[in-house]
Amino acid sequence: DVVDVRPLTGSGRFTYDPGFVSTAACESKITYIDGGAGVLLHGGYPIEQLAEHSDYLEVCYLLLNGELPTPEEKDKFVNIVKNHTMVHEQMNHFFNGFRRDAHPMAIMVACVGALSAFYHDSLDIDNAHHREVCAYRLVAKMPTIAAMCYKYSIGQPFQYPRNDLSYAENFLHMMFGTPCAEYKPSPVLAKAMDKIFLLHADHEQNASTSTVRLAGSSGANPFACIASGIAALWGPAHGGANEAVLTMLEEIGDESKIEEFVARAKDPNDSFRLMGFGHRVYRNFDPRAKVMKKTCDEVLHELGIDDDPLLKIAKRLEQIALEDEYFVQRKLYPNVDFYSGIILKAIGIPTTMFTVIFALSRTIGWISHWNEFHSSPNKIGRPRQLYTGPSKRDYPE
Ligand code: ACO
Repeated sequence: DVVDVRPLTGSGRFTYDPGFVSTAACESKITYIDGGAGVLLHGGYPIEQLAEHSDYLEVCYLLLNGELPTPEEKDKFVNIVKNHTMVHEQMNHFFNGFRRDAHPMAIMVACVGALSAFYHDSLDIDNAHHREVCAYRLVAKMPTIAAMCYKYSIGQPFQYPRNDLSYAENFLHMMFGTPCAEYKPSPVLAKAMDKIFLLHADHEQNASTSTVRLAGSSGANPFACIASGIAALWGPAHGGANEAVLTMLEEIGDESKIEEFVARAKDPNDSFRLMGFGHRVYRNFDPRAKVMKKTCDEVLHELGIDDDPLLKIAKRLEQIALEDEYFVQRKLYPNVDFYSGIILKAIGIPTTMFTVIFALSRTIGWISHWNEFHSSPNKIGRPRQLYTGPSKRDYPE
């Protein structure tokens, strides 16, 4: 049921809905979720079909334009993205200002926000072409900046992007290639990387996307808005969960300690939660998690590490959650981050980069929502509050 409260705006009445559990803040044509049925559609296409037949850049086109591209449109789009993969050389100097052990998400927030200092030629938010160019620049440069964060942290030289590689291969090249040795991922790993990007591309009005829309509603430039989305994504209840899953698995350390952690997660007096379980919208299996689980099995098989001890803990946790009354009653299924963390670890990506990869993937969702906001009549977002402080009182003399 939808109750439209727009006519009441300004009349002094408003809804009180902490956490926006049942409040729609906008209309959107981009993504549809039915959390009860476990359905996720982009532009009407089921995520399972996109994961099987499409690829990340094609889904980027779909999210931005509302339709799948023709082969010619796709070629053109891929080439435009490839033309924008490099960042300004001045940007290399930014990194020297950070500690080598800085969290890469801190560097991402800073560097992506700073893109607005370089691209004055595309900051007119009322100009559709400018908005489009910003989207291309962001999709193209995010892997470059993300890989630079990693290279800086390990003291290796930055790798320039390579336009002869696919989007996923190029990212892995910038992460793991060196001037001394080329990095060539196997097709299975490159495909898995692309699937991780694709499955995280958009998820309607989650905390970070809502943040981008709200920041955008003030007329802020797109790079600043995306930086705000990255900051919101960082939290462990949102994008930080994939990192938190691995940290938790390492903390559990041994199958014999699983029961102890599960008991803590069920204890109402303990704030500990099983990371990678539960979702605000899905009260059923997250459809992305199903695809991710299959990809996870393929990657581990390809690498010959099916018997990894952390994976064994993960599989046991998954089994418990699917059988234990506490999790079943509350419909707490493994979410997409539960499996993506395991795949990323297997590919050799350090834990602190997990949320960065989520941010890279979600950038297209953020910028598509930002663009949708500016493409239709809009107003500044301004939530109300329920005041619970003291009544008016006099300053003590
Ligand atoms: N472990 C144990 N118990 C949990 C978990 C969990 N992971 N998640 C929820 N619960 C319990 C709560 O304690 C609560 O129990 P109660 O009814 O007895 O009080 C009940 O399930 C409902 O939980 P809420 O916090 O009300 O659910 P909400 O929709 O607000 O939270 C959230 C969703 C934040 C994702 C939550 O499930 C969680 O913290 N999960 C772990 C973090 C995580 O994996 N986040 C990734 C989300 S996916 C993404 O961002 C891509």
